[in-house]
Order: sequence, then C-alpha cells, then structure tokens
Amino acid sequence: MPLDGNLKKILIVDFGSQFTQLIARKIRELGVYCEIISHNKLKKIKNFETNIKGLVLSGGPLNVYENKKVKFNNKLLKLGVPVLGICFGHQIISKELGGRVKSSKYREFGLAEVQEIKKSKLTKDFFSKGKNNVWMSHADQVIKLPKNFQAIAKSENSKLCIIENLEKKMYGIQFHPEVSHTNKGNQILKNFVFSICKIKRNWSSSDQKIKLINEVKQLVGNSKVICALSGGVDSSVVAKLLSNAIGKKLICIFVNTGLLRKNEETQVINTFKKRFKINLIYVNAENIFISKLKNITDPEKKRRIIGNLFIKIFEKYAKKIKNVKFLAQGTLYPDIIESKSVTGSQTSKIKSHHNVGGLPKKMNLKLVEPLKYLFKDEVRKLGLKLGLNREIISRHPFPGPGLAIRMPGKITKEKIKILKEADNYFIQSLKDNNLYDKIWQAYAALLPVKTVGVMGDNRTYEYLCLLRAITSEDGMTADFYQFKKSYIQSISNTIVNNIKGINRVVYDVTSKPPSTIELE
Ligand code: XMP
Repeated sequence: MPLDGNLKKILIVDFGSQFTQLIARKIRELGVYCEIISHNKLKKIKNFETNIKGLVLSGGPLNVYENKKVKFNNKLLKLGVPVLGICFGHQIISKELGGRVKSSKYREFGLAEVQEIKKSKLTKDFFSKGKNNVWMSHADQVIKLPKNFQAIAKSENSKLCIIENLEKKMYGIQFHPEVSHTNKGNQILKNFVFSICKIKRNWSSSDQKIKLINEVKQLVGNSKVICALSGGVDSSVVAKLLSNAIGKKLICIFVNTGLLRKNEETQVINTFKKRFKINLIYVNAENIFISKLKNITDPEKKRRIIGNLFIKIFEKYAKKIKNVKFLAQGTLYPDIIESKSVTGSQTSKIKSHHNVGGLPKKMNLKLVEPLKYLFKDEVRKLGLKLGLNREIISRHPFPGPGLAIRMPGKITKEKIKILKEADNYFIQSLKDNNLYDKIWQAYAALLPVKTVGVMGDNRTYEYLCLLRAITSEDGMTADFYQFKKSYIQSISNTIVNNIKGINRVVYDVTSKPPSTIELE
C-alpha cells in the first residue's frame, strides 16, 4: 500500500544500484513524491497505476545482456510517461529500443568531463560553456543510438553519454546526477521532474504531521498501543506522533540496558515522561544485561544475547498492560524497500533489535508503523514539527546493542564507565567545535589492549581509546572524517587528561568498505 494512493508520483525502478535511495531522496527534496520498486517486482505487473507521472530507471551492477537476471518488463516503456534512465537504466533503454551496448575498453569510474552536443530540456542550466564535470561508474557503454534518439552530450569514454527521444520524452544518461560529485546534478533531476514530467510540488515531510496523526487515530480507535522507546530519532518521533494522536492510550516502554550513552536514560525520562507527559514505563535492566554478558567476547553472541534479552524484558512488561492491540515501530522507508539487488545481496541496512521482531506474532499484536514511507531526513523534519528538540532530532545513529559492540572483548562495569566518559567528551567537543552536524556518526570505543604511558613522573598501564567519525549518505558506505591535526591533538589530550583508565588515543582512518562503521 503506498503512502497515499492519490498522490501523483515519480516511480523509481531499482536495478540494485547503491545510489537508488539517493535518487528518491533527491526527488523528494525537490518537493515531489516518489516511490521505489524493485525491478524484480515489476516483471509481472500488467496494469500500472495511473498516477505515475514519470519513471526513473536506476543504475545497477549487471550488464544488459544478462537476460536471465534482467527480465525487463518493457510495458514500462509504453506507459506514455517520461522516462529517465541512469547508467544501467540508460543502457537498458538503449538495448530495448534498438540501440547497442558493449563492454568499454576502459572502465570509467570517478570524475569525467562531459561535453554538450545539442541543447535539451533535460540539460537546461546544466552545462557551463558547453562542459560539466560528472560522476561516472560504469564498465559498459551505449555504442549505437536506439531508434529515434539523438545524442545530447559525450565524454571521452562514452560517446553517447546523454541521449534523448524528444517525442517520447525518453532520456538516458550514463553518469549519476544523484551523487554530490556530479556538478549541478540536481538540475538534471529538477528539469526532468518539473519541465519534462510536469509534475507539481506535492510533498513535504513536515506537512505529513496532521495526515499521519489522523491515520493513526483511525487505525487504532480506542485500543492501546505499546512502543519500545530507545531515545533514538525514529522511536522518539514515533512516540511523539502517537502521543499527539492517541494521548494516554500510548504506553512506551524504555529498557535501560546499561549500554546506553552517558546520561541517556535521564534525557529520555526528562523529555518523554516529564516534558511531554507520555505514559512511560522505565525498566532499569543494567544488572541483568551485564551479568548475561559476563565473559562473552564473540560479537555475534553479544548481539544475540542483547537482542533476546531485550525482547524478553519488553514482553514481560508489555504483558502487564491490559487491552493492548498494537505495537508501534519506527520502521523507515529504507527498511521496507525490497532492495534485494539483482546480484542477490541485500542493500538495506542492518535492522535494529528495537524493531521488536517476533513480538507481534507472539503477542497477537498488530503493527503501527507511521514512518514507513519516510526517509531519515524526512523523519527528522517531521520530528521538529512535532516539537521534539533539535538535540534529539539531530542525534547520530546509535546501534541497538549499544556500547557492547564498541568494546571488543569482555564487557565489564568498569569498562562501560570509562567508555561512557570518553564518548561523552568526544561528542561534546564535536558539538563545541561545530563539527557534530558535519559528521554522520561519531563515537569512542575502548579496545581490549592496555599500553604503557607516562604521566608526570609515573608509569601508566591503561586502555587504548579508538575514535571513529565518518561521513556517509546512508551508512552503507562511509569515509573517515578528516579532522585538523590541532583538533585531533586537543581531543586526545582532553580524553587522556580527564579519564582515568585511558592513556592513549587513536583515530580510525578506514572507510567502509573494507571496514564497517561499528567495530563488531
Ligand atoms: P556497520 O557497522 O554495519 O553499521 O557499518 C552501519 C550502521 O548501522 C548501525 N548498526 C546498527 N543499528 N542495530 C541498529 O539499530 C544494530 O544491531 C546495528 N549494528 C550496526 C551502525 O551504528 C551504523 O550506523
């Protein structure tokens, strides 16, 4: 079920590109509603919805001649709506409509210059002096134009880099306009959406407030809803939205695992119980989590223990509340997009154990997932509209298993205490230096290694603290953040001078891949 069956939309067909969600976010940022559908799901569709006003075919890892894997539903190209093919999408349009695609002699990966051959609506205000720098990522290229198409631009390794069929309003581009490395890439999407598809602005996530509140009211009626509140952005927005919709019929359960960030439990209680007067059951389960994790060093075991225990505790408290029919979850659009790529690998991110899997079935609960058509940045805007403060809304992501996976090796109370302090100093200093919002995620970790140091005239033998700060679009890939040397030096001094137990600080400079964002 789409968010709103009547909304005019752009449909994005996903062929497994890591950038598909980015296309959707960019189009929504333009104020236009769009949805993503996997090309696998399209194979058998006979009748497409009439409110589709344009199609974008994404990139992907395959080549167009892998017929078994790409069963293209060519009804798509007969809908009579404008089509924009990006990278693989460009190649599949070309192949389907009589052009030719072949493996390039040189893979083109990274920045490339494109040169304008002919004016087009798609490239209005895109070129300056007939040139532009764009981001390429392809091994195949279109070598023969499909029927009734013309070339609009070329690059050194892709002579048919932008093509159009003016009459049918079909366009193909070899590069990626959705990535920030493509100069003025947004202009291409803007031209496609507004001038070519002629769709009007119809979407703003913050406008969804009233609509979502009404939907929740209707769905829930007089029943009670429980919600696992974690203090993170998604569950906070869900809780506030539901509280606006159904007031005291919402009961939040907040389990303190003892693995939260410093003072997190106080902040959650102050915000939701004291300020917003939401029914909140606070469960302090620190001791039980620590005892179950005693001597456990295997990362997967740690995750399993925490996940299972969390569900058990949540269930125990939820069962005490009578007449509960619904469980509210902070599921987001990226969680529900069927983004199994064509190569079979899952492109969606790891799910939180706070999406309390298994419970609805066991307890006979129905799900309320009011955010399931929103991206994270849209959830943030909605949260601000609902009156949540910026501190909660702009918080970096925090994994369900918490500090346990930022402490390789054994988990002890002493180590948790040290780690909470180090993390707090790091995050606070990022805020003080106006760096926090430039970074997608940052944290301190405590490595299971002690090293020798010297402080004053004394020898020390203490833990090693690792700092990680990354930039990312969606957590799937990441680069380490390049701090100035002076900043790194000062945070290292602050941590070592203020925290007994740490005498050395290192900064993680690996990207993802090959590393992951978390340590375990
Ligand atoms: P990795 O370490 O896989 O992390 O590169 C990618 C993103 O996912 C977060 N993460 C989790 N989030 N439950 C969550 O809710 C989890 O078990 C979990 N594991 C990793 C991580 O913090 C990063 O933002």
